[in-house]
Amino acid sequence: MERDDQFWNIDTAAGQLLQALVFTHQPKNILEVGTSNGYSAILMAEIASQYGGHITTIEFHEKRIILAKNNLQKAGLLNLVTILQGDALEILHGFEKERFDFFFIDANKKQYGEYFKECMRLANHGAIIVADNTISHRHSLDSFFKELEIAKDLDVLESEIGTGLVIVKVKK
Ligand SMILES: C[S@@+](CC[C@H](N)C(=O)[O-])C[C@H]1O[C@@H](n2cnc3c(N)ncnc32)[C@H](O)[C@@H]1O
Repeated sequence: MERDDQFWNIDTAAGQLLQALVFTHQPKNILEVGTSNGYSAILMAEIASQYGGHITTIEFHEKRIILAKNNLQKAGLLNLVTILQGDALEILHGFEKERFDFFFIDANKKQYGEYFKECMRLANHGAIIVADNTISHRHSLDSFFKELEIAKDLDVLESEIGTGLVIVKVKK
């Protein structure tokens, strides 16, 4: 599908990097925070379809969920993606035994710090956490960068691609 600024879809080059990371790491369980109309979920699902990965994605806006489902259906990828409707933090806090190998954080910028802490709690050994807009929205991301500083057992790469991506490898 075409990316659309109206739906804050990930920048084209950053989307290619996201796909390359999924291709390289072949994560079984991917968790996306911020579905919008499904563009980035489709990018990841295109790669996950090649090796049997699955994507869970969280969105609270009902109309965007309907659009995302339609877009995933058109792309023939709906069976690889579970969309959870609700507030991202509430859903993340509600996960108990669930564990993920790859995270894409792209929802409320002010909550990135909290999302990140939850991703660390839910991460399998060797998981990758990718956060979008880390340059364009740097002014809203103090809590996220503070959490990154405090967290242990990580490798962190800050990329200037697109609107900025932070890529974390969890070593715990
Ligand atoms: C930047 S867009 C996601 C774009 C998508 N990842 C892509 O690249 O195609 C952010 C989305 O997060 C959703 N969102 C923001 N805050 C949220 C929250 N607290 N819980 C659930 N969804 C949220 C918004 O409704 C919006 O659709």
